Amino acid sequence: MTRRVYVFDTTLRDGEQTPGVSLSIEDKFEIAKALDGLGVDIIEAGFPAASEGEFNAVKKIANSGLKAKVAALARLNKKDMDVTLSTGIKRIHVFIATSDIHLQYKLKKTRDEVLQIIRENISYLKDKGVEIEYSAEDATRTEKDFLLKAFRVAAESGASTLDIADTVGVASPSLMKELVSMIKRDMPDIRVSVHVHNDLGLATANTLAAIEAGADQFHGTINGIGERAGNVSIEEVAVALKVLYGIETGINLQKIYETSKLVEKLTGVRIAKNKPIVGENAFGHESGIHTHGILNNPRTYEPISPEMVGRKRWFMAGKLSGSHGIAAQLKEMGISVNEDQLAEIVKRVKALGDAGKHVTDADLYAIAMSVTGSSPQKYLSLKGIVSVTGMNISPTTSIRVSFKEKDLESSSTGIGPVDASLRAIQKALEGVLKVNLIEYSIDAITGGSDSLAQVSVKVEDEEGHIASSTATGPDIVMTSVEAMIDGINKLLLKRV
Ligand code: KIV
Ligand code: ZN
Repeated sequence: MTRRVYVFDTTLRDGEQTPGVSLSIEDKFEIAKALDGLGVDIIEAGFPAASEGEFNAVKKIANSGLKAKVAALARLNKKDMDVTLSTGIKRIHVFIATSDIHLQYKLKKTRDEVLQIIRENISYLKDKGVEIEYSAEDATRTEKDFLLKAFRVAAESGASTLDIADTVGVASPSLMKELVSMIKRDMPDIRVSVHVHNDLGLATANTLAAIEAGADQFHGTINGIGERAGNVSIEEVAVALKVLYGIETGINLQKIYETSKLVEKLTGVRIAKNKPIVGENAFGHESGIHTHGILNNPRTYEPISPEMVGRKRWFMAGKLSGSHGIAAQLKEMGISVNEDQLAEIVKRVKALGDAGKHVTDADLYAIAMSVTGSSPQKYLSLKGIVSVTGMNISPTTSIRVSFKEKDLESSSTGIGPVDASLRAIQKALEGVLKVNLIEYSIDAITGGSDSLAQVSVKVEDEEGHIASSTATGPDIVMTSVEAMIDGINKLLLKRV
């Protein structure tokens, strides 16, 4: 029988502890619904005793009929626990530290006092009709005999899940295995969980090691957000469990990317380009050798198919590209070329790359148009625009575009006139095409207030196609609009 591991999602609690992240109740609710759709087993919705907003968010999520069990965090004291229980959660996650350093410098308690706190408070929770999960905070720096004692007391008092917290991310895979085995040997029927931080970049390895040793559940966050270097990334563990171990979670892997993007958008924590599974480059290829291999058989240079996690592979032209990759890119853009034209395009792309230029889709498209002598095909064009900005009113843009010969209009506000204008374009297209702006940058090319701006954008559609474009001009709003429209035209070419 296939082994099943439970996923305890703490994006809304430990993830929200990421410095600079603060989610509104609405944002939390939107993420909770996405996590539920993704298939996590438990959603830790927050820390109700921390603030009124946290309390209200947990209450709303706990009572919204999600399939996942909704949990919340509480310290082991009656005040915290009563507030938490009154939200209507089905599972309470309680914690107290067990390491000597925390006992001495933070809690100022003896080991016996900590055991007494665990016994008294978990016994109090026992008849409240909720599942009880106990985390030993800083478990991985706790003396092992004492850790086992603390877990035994928690289990005897009513906890059904025992969680080993690697609070400062200092465990090694072998230590994780040792701790999980120690608890499983002593209490074979209890659910053992791990909560791992990524301070030394070992979070995924440590979580997998714990699961190899028999852990039944892991805590993690989407995109690995969390305190300091973050928590383990759910997406990394879920995919690794599936492809390396044949272990199932309830996660619908195809929804990983859209969930990751939503969390990125609402938390404002940008995903690194090279982040496994969800980073922009995770399925991007430039080198000719790799591209050639991929085109013959994607498994040559891809560990998993991008579709498995709701993504699409993409190729980028550059000095390392070969003719196979560039031909595939041109095909994706709907451009057909003969052999001589292809050789000339490859030559020009390499020359740009050698000159240190980042060759965007827009560059490749322009080169192909010039080599083939064709005129660029445009599905989307700007018909009219008014953008106002000032003081005490939100910058607003009204726009008219022509999409496949049909006029579409919209207006939007934004944090500035550029933001308002790009949002207005996205809004105008809403009924026909969902476009996300995933990257925007602006550089001044010359000196003074009349300097030329160079705007680069990267846009993505709901099928995961990505296109980039660059425009240069004296007016940053119009140049941004031009780059965005051009980028969307490139996207549309990839959809044909
Ligand atoms: O990292 C940690 O120790 C925690 C606990 C509350 C489980 O987040
Ligand atoms: Zn944590």
